[in-house]
Amino acid sequence: MIAAIIAAAGSGERFGASIPKALIHLGDKTLIEHAISNIAPAVQQIVVTAPTGYEDQIRALVGDEITVVTGGATRSESVRLGLAALPPETEFVLVHDAARALASKTLAHSVIEALRNGDVAVIPGMPEVDTVKVVDTQGFVVSTPERASLRKVQTPQGFTFAVLKSAHQVAADATDDAVLVANAGHKVRIIAGEERALKITTPSDLATAMTFIGDAKSFRTGVGTDAHAFGEGRELWLAGLSWPGEVGVDGHSDGDVAAHAICDALFAATGTGDLGSNFGTSRPEYAGASGTQLLQETLKIITQAGYSISNVTVQIIGNRPRIGARRAEAIAAISSALGGAPVSILATTTDGMGLTGEGKGIAAIASALVFK
Ligand code: CTP
Ligand code: MG
Repeated sequence: MIAAIIAAAGSGERFGASIPKALIHLGDKTLIEHAISNIAPAVQQIVVTAPTGYEDQIRALVGDEITVVTGGATRSESVRLGLAALPPETEFVLVHDAARALASKTLAHSVIEALRNGDVAVIPGMPEVDTVKVVDTQGFVVSTPERASLRKVQTPQGFTFAVLKSAHQVAADATDDAVLVANAGHKVRIIAGEERALKITTPSDLATAMTFIGDAKSFRTGVGTDAHAFGEGRELWLAGLSWPGEVGVDGHSDGDVAAHAICDALFAATGTGDLGSNFGTSRPEYAGASGTQLLQETLKIITQAGYSISNVTVQIIGNRPRIGARRAEAIAAISSALGGAPVSILATTTDGMGLTGEGKGIAAIASALVFK
């Protein structure tokens, strides 16, 4: 039986949050949840060491299959408490930091493979890029280890159960388990570590970790435009709002150029056609649809294509109406039609030239950012 102890009982002092580090979110999950979901495929049993007072909260997050024990005052003490919760038939144990939330299951499998090949202690390590100095308490350099022989070590660190248990019989505190095992006279094997197994210590480490989970390639952007000429006797609809007292625009829809431009930007970003191909003559039921109805329908189409909206912006171009006073109301109308997506609305005139400067109508240019 292969078990993992996930050390999560630290307070995260250097991170500086008001909650324990293991409960900090990285994307849609806490660090402890990431650590568990990455290591679970490689092991049969998991014990988590929780900070005092957070046991129930962590139990609720990790589910019934995982044993949660209260951690100790030091990391080594926490690991000892975790070891005590493992059954005697445990063959190998991986000790892992919740703070290395993104260490992959491949790394855990590599550690286990080396244990299966006969090593009693296996740890991942990365080559050191900086020159490292050993210094004394007076602030003077004592020595300079040869850089090529240095490794920055990570977790999960794997051990045979018996070796780790006996190495932990001394009440020592160490920053990793391998040093205790080495002090007990065992050989410790180094295997290749991985960048994504970085230890999240400070907020900037969290930002680095984010780059491993966000897939930048799945973002797409699109632009859309629309323009309508004024038509006497028509009611003006713009940015999802009715504008009493303003001159409306011609056309058989409500002529909401801001909404239409946003629809096209969303279609452009997602490669799902355009206003004409989605709501044109082939779909007469949309002939008289309002701008907000079209936005809602566009949201359905792009959602079906697997996309979510990151944000949309629209700039309304025209001499009238004045947008500023109703900007918040317009943003709320568009955003709610788009399922609460972040929306910005801007407005400009064109200094009496071109586009709508002649006062003949209203135009809008929109952009959308979406992700898969
Ligand atoms: N850890 C633990 N028990 C402790 C101290 C630390 O289980 N008494 C765990 C942490 O939760 C972390 C891992 O050991 O997942 C590595 O420790 P570190 O990165 O130093 O985390 P913290 O001790 O929480 O952070 P800090 O030192 O900044 O307070
Ligand atoms: Mg610590």
